[in-house]
Amino acid sequence: MFELKTVPAASKHALYQELAAQARALLHAEHDLIANAANLSALLFHALPDVNWVGFYFLKDGELVVGPFQGKPACVRIAMGKGVCGTAAVKRESILVADVNQFPGHIFCDAASVSEAVVPLVKHGNLLGVLDIDSPEPARFDEEDRAGLEQLAEVFLQSL
Ligand code: SME
Repeated sequence: MFELKTVPAASKHALYQELAAQARALLHAEHDLIANAANLSALLFHALPDVNWVGFYFLKDGELVVGPFQGKPACVRIAMGKGVCGTAAVKRESILVADVNQFPGHIFCDAASVSEAVVPLVKHGNLLGVLDIDSPEPARFDEEDRAGLEQLAEVFLQSL
């Protein structure tokens, strides 16, 4: 039985190292995309401070379709190039948005969201989708979060 650790980490770096280890433990024995996306979104939603939505959008027939997530119900389909998710997907680069009100074309799902981080999921050169995280705090995500979230996305991709 997997046990979610809730002991406060000494630093953001330490938290992400711990989360990467927990994610590996949680995902390594399973290769199902939906199962692992569901468990990773639950892990991150409960372990990351100040987040109100954590989840996946997967590329299907040329658009992003919502996958497993934790948080309020979200918009189902996002066109490539639209919103933060569609922009990160087209650029294949993670994007940190300090204030979503300042991001042209941002797509509102939960009115509580103020800042956002989106990490593209690319395996063997193929874009699978994105990992999206929203926060009610302004500028919640910094470069340490980017590195940590990219590492977690890599753990997910390696599990498939
Ligand atoms: N804000 C995102 C849409 C997805 S929700 O935040 C869950 C965007 O602009 O792409």
